[in-house]
Amino acid sequence: MILSDTVSLTAIRHGFRSAISQAVDTFGATAPNPSVGCALLDADGRILTVGVHPRVGQPHAEAMALAQARAAGVLDQARVALVTLEPCNHTGRTPPCSEALRNSPVREVWIGAADPNPQAAGGAERLREMPDGKRVVMLADRPDMTDLARDCRALLAPFASRVVRHCPWISVKQALDEHGSMVPPPGQKTFTSPASLTLAHRLRRATDAVITGIGTVLSDRPRFTVRHVADHEGRSPRLLVVCDRHGRLPADWVAEMTEAGFEILTSSDLLSVPAMLAERGVNWAMIEAGPALLASVAEAGLWDDWLTIHKTAGADRIDLKSRDESPLRLLRENACSLES
Ligand SMILES: NC(=O)c1ccc[n+]([C@@H]2O[C@H](COP(=O)([O-])OP(=O)(O)OC[C@H]3O[C@@H](n4cnc5c(N)ncnc54)[C@H](OP(=O)(O)O)[C@@H]3O)[C@@H](O)[C@H]2O)c1
Repeated sequence: MILSDTVSLTAIRHGFRSAISQAVDTFGATAPNPSVGCALLDADGRILTVGVHPRVGQPHAEAMALAQARAAGVLDQARVALVTLEPCNHTGRTPPCSEALRNSPVREVWIGAADPNPQAAGGAERLREMPDGKRVVMLADRPDMTDLARDCRALLAPFASRVVRHCPWISVKQALDEHGSMVPPPGQKTFTSPASLTLAHRLRRATDAVITGIGTVLSDRPRFTVRHVADHEGRSPRLLVVCDRHGRLPADWVAEMTEAGFEILTSSDLLSVPAMLAERGVNWAMIEAGPALLASVAEAGLWDDWLTIHKTAGADRIDLKSRDESPLRLLRENACSLES
């Protein structure tokens, strides 16, 4: 089977892996937009550059990759574009990426996932349109690339969840000690290993909002900041929702958290929280709460990933349950730059 008109299958896989892993680093920075990566390859399959969409209002991944290639003086060598998400076909805050690719030397465009946003869809068709149409390959049509298609869907899952279900992707993070208790020993706020703490902080960095319960706030006065890895520079305040039905939230803690860069919201109805967050452009939310709120979350089925960190005598055991293609799985597998 001819896999690409231009370059080898190995080069396609390698390029997609780079685009996906660089886009994973942007989880938590791009909302309400998705995390997207684009690799440009030359005629020999070498990666010329990888672009990502850094944040809303800035260029999309394809435009970034083309601009980077231009700046490096190699744009005329670009033959294949590998994009984790279908290039947009509409003029929003930025011009359509389908046109930018049509007007480039690229001959072939590989697309990791279709655009779930009806306003922006149609990019693949536009790229194929004659004259000067490009060869377009959808990963979903390639039985030999299901692993890459799955990772592109996982990368898109938080955005797709908000756009399609009007609800953010929700990841629960829960730590259990050797006896199955969530409550830390007196005087401590945590009991897990440094590696587990790093994973938890990578998840915080990747998400746009934290949901917690008033019980956790009153007993721990948690900080919810990203500390074990570097946070995104200059990101807008992360939302922090406290489920509190009796108005017990301490004003001094709210002041401290606001100072630390959070926007605090309260809710007396857990079930209304996802829609409220989606309305505010949150793609991915995490729940860090005690047993009482988690019981309500489990009862309502209000989660997409459930990450349990089991403390054991040896290394912590991590258990991840997911409803669908999981961005949290992708985050774990792409430890890349954050922990170096
Ligand atoms: N190991 C871990 O992963 C972990 C993580 C976080 C916290 N913790 C520990 O958990 C302990 C605190 O646990 P907790 O159970 O007391 O606190 P929590 O689960 O964080 O908060 C409980 C509160 O959530 C509110 N709530 C529950 N269901 C709700 C619903 N359906 N709608 C709206 N609000 C709802 C209730 O507020 P009202 O009282 O106002 O009704 C309830 O008192 C602490 O010791 C903390 O260290 C452990």
